[in-house]
Amino acid sequence: MKRLQDRVALVTGGASGIGAACARRYAAEGARVAVADIDRDGAQAVARDIGGIALACDHTQAADGAQAVAAVLAAWGRLDVLHANAGVGWTGRFDATDEPTMRRVFDGVLLGPTLMARAALAALRASPARQADGAAILFTASGLGVHGRPMISLYSAAKHGVVGLMRSLALELGEENIRVNAVCPGVVDTPMVRATTGGWGTPDEALEMFRRVTPLRRNSTPEDIAASAAFLVSPDARNITGCALLVDGGAHEA
Ligand SMILES: NC(=O)c1ccc[n+]([C@@H]2O[C@H](COP(=O)([O-])OP(=O)(O)OC[C@H]3O[C@@H](n4cnc5c(N)ncnc54)[C@H](O)[C@@H]3O)[C@@H](O)[C@H]2O)c1
Repeated sequence: MKRLQDRVALVTGGASGIGAACARRYAAEGARVAVADIDRDGAQAVARDIGGIALACDHTQAADGAQAVAAVLAAWGRLDVLHANAGVGWTGRFDATDEPTMRRVFDGVLLGPTLMARAALAALRASPARQADGAAILFTASGLGVHGRPMISLYSAAKHGVVGLMRSLALELGEENIRVNAVCPGVVDTPMVRATTGGWGTPDEALEMFRRVTPLRRNSTPEDIAASAAFLVSPDARNITGCALLVDGGAHEA
């Protein structure tokens, strides 16, 4: 069933990992997809595969977000789904961090999605989907956006901010039938995670450690996250807004 037929979606961080899997899934469900990323070549590779368009976009720059939305409207005349997925990783001791690091993490994790949502709002308000089952904003937050863990304070703080933004926007935009939700992954084997597992041994050791303490005894895959993301932006979720959906094998309940 092609739940996203006729829909237009913009996915940030779509060149890699979870964002790439979501872009592919949205396209498989019938959507036209714009793959936006700071990694232009990676975005082009995914866009080529799925018949979408690639947009060079640094989501921490307001002008880039505005240009990305304008490019989508120029290509397809509408925007129905914003998936603000891009983010940056960080782990470390809180007492060993410094202000530039705080600014980098908060910008990359929280400011970027905030700017993207602001940039997309007018286009989402004009979306024909709003008259049907709803235009949609989806954030990739994290299990660490609803729970804490040692050695990842800055990232967790910023992801809690993403969940807070989602909850407030869901209330603010509900009467306009713009649904706002977040998907909250557990550990997923992606380049970002492999680059930031230093506190827990090698990347393979860290991934295995997280797998062992997860109730379902598996880490999430990008495709696991994409399946839930596709549901949340689809007509099947027309009565769902303000939801932070954990997709983590139970890890954050354990
Ligand atoms: N992998 C996990 O375990 C996990 C768990 C929970 C949440 N997340 C979140 O999922 C999202 C995707 O991460 P991933 O694991 O797929 O990592 P990834 O490294 O595979 O992909 C991240 C993508 O974001 C892009 N990006 C980084 N900074 C950007 C910027 N300023 N502007 C535009 N694009 C930018 C990168 O180029 C990359 O393509 C992030 O928000 C991350 O915090 C990941």
